[in-house]
Amino acid sequence: MKMKIIPVIRTLIAGVCAALWVTPIAAADSPREHLLLDSGWRFHLGDEWPGAMHLENSGADSGPASERFTDTYWRVVSLPHDWAVELPFDPSGDGSHGFKMVGGKYPANSIAWYRRAFELPQADEGKRIWLAFDGVFRDATVWVNGWRVRHHEGGYYPFREDITDVLHFGGTNTVAVRVDATKTEGWFYEGAGIYRHAWLDKTAAVAIAPDGIFVCPQFENNVPSDKAQINVEVSVLNTLSNAASAEVSCEIISPEGRSLAGFKQSVEAQGGSRATAKLTSEVSSPALWTPDLPQLCKLLTSVSVGSKIIDQEETRFGIRTVAFDAANGFLLNGKHYEVYGTCNHQDHAGVGAAIPDALQDFRVKKLKEFGCNAIRTSHNPPTPELLDACDRLGMLVLDESRLMGSDSENMKKWDDQIRRDRNHPCVAIWCIANEQFGVQDTPQAASVARTMQDYARKLDPTRPVTYASPEGDVFYGINSVIEVRGWNYHYGPDMDKYHAEHPNQPNVGTEQASVIGTRGIYTNDRPHGYVSACDVVWPGWTTTAESWWSYFAGRPWLSGAFVWTGFDYRGEPTPYWWPCVNSHFGILDTCGFPKDVFYYYKSWWTTNTVLHLLPHWNWPGREGQEIPVQAFSNCKQVELFLNGASLGKQAMKLNSKLSWQVKYAPGTLSAKGFDDAGNVIAETKVETTGEAAQIQLTPDGRTINADGEDLAVFTVAALDAHGRVVPVAQNKIDLSIAGAGRIIGVGNGDPSCHEPDTLFPTTPVRTVAVSDWRWQLAKIPHDSSAAPEYANDFDDSAWNTLKANPDGETGELTIKTENTSAIYRAHLKLTEEDLSDSGVQIRFPGGDDEGWYFVNNQYLGETHDWQARAAFDIRKYLHAGDNVIAVGVNNLGGQGGLYPNVSVDVIGKASIPQWSRSLFNGLAQIIVQSTRDAGEFKLTATADGLAPATATAQTQSCVLRPSVP
Ligand code: GAL
Repeated sequence: MKMKIIPVIRTLIAGVCAALWVTPIAAADSPREHLLLDSGWRFHLGDEWPGAMHLENSGADSGPASERFTDTYWRVVSLPHDWAVELPFDPSGDGSHGFKMVGGKYPANSIAWYRRAFELPQADEGKRIWLAFDGVFRDATVWVNGWRVRHHEGGYYPFREDITDVLHFGGTNTVAVRVDATKTEGWFYEGAGIYRHAWLDKTAAVAIAPDGIFVCPQFENNVPSDKAQINVEVSVLNTLSNAASAEVSCEIISPEGRSLAGFKQSVEAQGGSRATAKLTSEVSSPALWTPDLPQLCKLLTSVSVGSKIIDQEETRFGIRTVAFDAANGFLLNGKHYEVYGTCNHQDHAGVGAAIPDALQDFRVKKLKEFGCNAIRTSHNPPTPELLDACDRLGMLVLDESRLMGSDSENMKKWDDQIRRDRNHPCVAIWCIANEQFGVQDTPQAASVARTMQDYARKLDPTRPVTYASPEGDVFYGINSVIEVRGWNYHYGPDMDKYHAEHPNQPNVGTEQASVIGTRGIYTNDRPHGYVSACDVVWPGWTTTAESWWSYFAGRPWLSGAFVWTGFDYRGEPTPYWWPCVNSHFGILDTCGFPKDVFYYYKSWWTTNTVLHLLPHWNWPGREGQEIPVQAFSNCKQVELFLNGASLGKQAMKLNSKLSWQVKYAPGTLSAKGFDDAGNVIAETKVETTGEAAQIQLTPDGRTINADGEDLAVFTVAALDAHGRVVPVAQNKIDLSIAGAGRIIGVGNGDPSCHEPDTLFPTTPVRTVAVSDWRWQLAKIPHDSSAAPEYANDFDDSAWNTLKANPDGETGELTIKTENTSAIYRAHLKLTEEDLSDSGVQIRFPGGDDEGWYFVNNQYLGETHDWQARAAFDIRKYLHAGDNVIAVGVNNLGGQGGLYPNVSVDVIGKASIPQWSRSLFNGLAQIIVQSTRDAGEFKLTATADGLAPATATAQTQSCVLRPSVP
C-alpha cells in the first residue's frame, strides 16, 4: 500500500528558545486595534451620481463619494447587508439567481451606495490605519474622504487598503462605497451589497503584516505522535522609510489555557518592506483537533522594538493532520475518516447572503444534527466567520476558489484566500474550481491547475488540492495533474475503472446526490413548483441519496463525499421554473427545517438510533387508497402498524430504507425498530391531526448576548387542539416584537413563496422643484460669510430670471466669462405641516465651477467641482412661509453658473413594518437579533382563528467586541 504523505519536516530556524520561556504580554500594550465597522452605515439604492466615477482628478467632490455630501436621510443599515433579499420577486428576473429584481434587467436596483463617517483621535497620528472588507458583492469602488482608494471586483474575496495617507486625524472621516451588483459570478442566488463584515484596523508603523501569521502544526510522517512540531511564520511589515529591527515572540496556549511553549526570533525589515521570522517549537502530548472534539490552541504573537511591544495578535489553531490517500481515502490524524459532507451556498431564509455570525453557528449545528462533518464552500471562498464556527463546533471544510486562473489577478485572490484561511484547523483541502466544462480537458487547463496547485503547496505544505470535476473516467487536462481527483456525480463503474487505472491518485466525492424534494410534500406538483420529498426525484445527472451513498459507503478509497446540498438556497429552482424561486436540493430547507431525507443521512452517518416514517398522515378524501410509506432507519428490522394493526416487519439492509403500500385510514401510523436480538430499540408514530387551533413559538433556546449582533431563531408552528404540529397548515402569521430585540428576517422553506423575507422602514418623500431663479453678476465672499444680497429681505426684483431646464440638468450657463461670479436667489414656500415631518433636504445639480450655498442667510456648505452635486440637510434653517435660497457661484474657466434644476425633498415619517409570514406545511422561522439593551424581548404571533402565542427571550449584557463608534 502506497501512502500519499504530505511532507512534514521544515527547516528548523535559529532562535528557538526553551519551551518554558514566556513573556506575559498585555493586549493593552499593543497599539493594534481590530475594530468592527458594521453599524451605522447609510444606504441608498440607486446611482444618481454617474459623475462620481470620473477619473480625471484625485479627490472626488461629486456626489456621495465626496466627504461633503449629505446622507442624513439615507436609510441606516448594519452589516452584513444584502439588498437583493429586500427586493421583490419578478418572473422576468434571472431564475437561476432566484427571480429577484436585480441584475442587468433592473439597472435602478443594481447599483447602491453605502456611506459611513467615523472620528479618528489626534492620538492615532503615526499609526497605520487599514480599511478592510470581508466581501462586497460585486464590483466595489471605495472612497475615503473623497479619495478613490480602491476598486475591487469579486464578491467572495476580502480586500483591504492602508488608508492612512488620506485620513483626518483629530477629525471626521468618511468612507463611501459604490457597489455594482449588475454582473453575477455564479448560477445561484448571490445577494448584493456589503454582505460580510467591514473592519478598521489600527497598527503601529512597524507591525505584523495583514494575514502575516501562519501557524502550521506538523508531525513526522503526517501521523500524530507524542510530539507536534509547531512551525510559525510571522511577517513583519515596516511602513517607515528606515530599516527597523524587531523581535518576534510567540507563545502557544493549550485548549485549557496552559502555556505550552514560548520562542522568539529577531528580524530586520528594510524601510517600506516586510521581513519574515520563521520559528519552530515542539508541543508534547498535544490535544488534537477533530470534528468530534474540536480542541483549539492559541498562538500569541508579539512584536517588540527595543523593549517596547508594538504589536500583538492572537491566532486560534488546532493540532491535527489531514491527508488524502489513494487506497485509504481521507485520513484525519492518520486514520481513515469518512467525509460526510454537504455543499452549501451562503444563503439563509430571511437574510439572504448577509448571514450574521450567530446564524453561521446555527447552520453548522443543524448540519451536525444529521452527521454532516464537512462543508464544501461551494463555489467560492467563505466568510471567515464560517471557518471560525467550523473550528469551534467541529466541521471540516473544503475551501473553494471562485474561479480558476493563473493570471495575476486570480493568483492574488488565491493567495489572499489561502493566507487568510490556512490557520483554520477545519480547512482540510483547497479546491481550485468547480466544473470548468469549457476548458477542463485542455493542456492549458492542466497548466493553470498545476500553477494554482503548486502555489497552494508553497503557501501551505499540509493540505492537498482538488478540483470539482464533472467528468467520469477521464484523465485529461485538470484531472491528470490534480493531486486529489474530485468527483461531481458519475458514481458507479466509471469510478472503479478510473481508480484501477490511476491507483496512486486519491479521490473525493466533491459533489453527489442532487436529489430534490420539498419539505412535507409527497407528490410532484408542477403548478406550485413542488417535488416529492421521498428521495425519488432527481435531475438526469444525479441520483438518490440511497444509491450514491450505498456506492460510496462500500469504497473507503473514495474518502466520502459532499452532498449537493445541506441547505436549500435561492435560485436554481430545478426541476421547474417560476413560481418556484428556490432550489430543492437541500437535506434541510432554507430555514434549516429537516426534510425526510435528513433521517436517511442521520441513519447512516451517525451512531444514533434513528426511526422515521413518512409521509405525514393527513390525507382526507384518500381513505382506502394506497399511500406509499417509507421508514428511514438504522434499526435492523422495522415493523409498521396502522391503528395498532401490524402491516409487517421488514429487515433493513445496510444504507437502505424500507417501504410499504398502506391503504389510508386516518389515525396513527406507527413503527417499532428492532436490534439484532429482536429487542425494540425505537418507536415512532405519525398521527392524523385535527385542524390548526393554536400557534406555538419555540426559540432555539439560548440566552443571547445584548450586543446588537447575536440572534434567537424561533420556530413558529401551528398545533391542533391536542398540541400536534399540523403538517399541512399554511396559516398567515402576524408578528410583533417589544423590548430588546428586532426581527431581521422571516422564512418558511416554501420554495415558491413570494412573501418578503425581510422588511425595513420606508419613508415617504415629496419633492418640490425650485425652478424660478433670479440672478446677477456680483462679487461674492469665497467663504462661509454671507453677502448682503443673500439676505431674505433683499429686493431682487430687478435681477435677471433663470428657469429650471426641463430637458437637462445644466440649464443655461449664465456666467459667460472666466473668473467671474454671480449670485442666484430663489424662494421656497413651506407649510407648518411640511416642517412637522422628519426633515427637509435640498439638492443642487451643480455650481459651475465653485459654489457657496445659503438658506435664510445661513451658510450650508460649498463645492469646488462643477460636477459636485451638493445636498444639504436644511430643516433647522427653515420656517413656515417664505424661505430664501441664495447661492454664490464663481466661474473659473469657460462658461459657468448655477445649474437651476434644484430640488427640495420634504421627508415624511418612517413607517414601521408589519412583519408576517405564512406557515409552510406547519412551520415558519423568525430570526430576531438583539439590541444592545440587556433584558428581554417578547415576540408575539397571531393568526386568524388560532390561539396566539408569545415567547420571551432573555438578552444578557456582555463584553462588546471592539467596534468603530
Ligand atoms: C452541479 C453544480 C452545482 C449545482 C448542481 C445542481 O453540477 O456544480 O452548482 O448547479 O449541479 O445539481
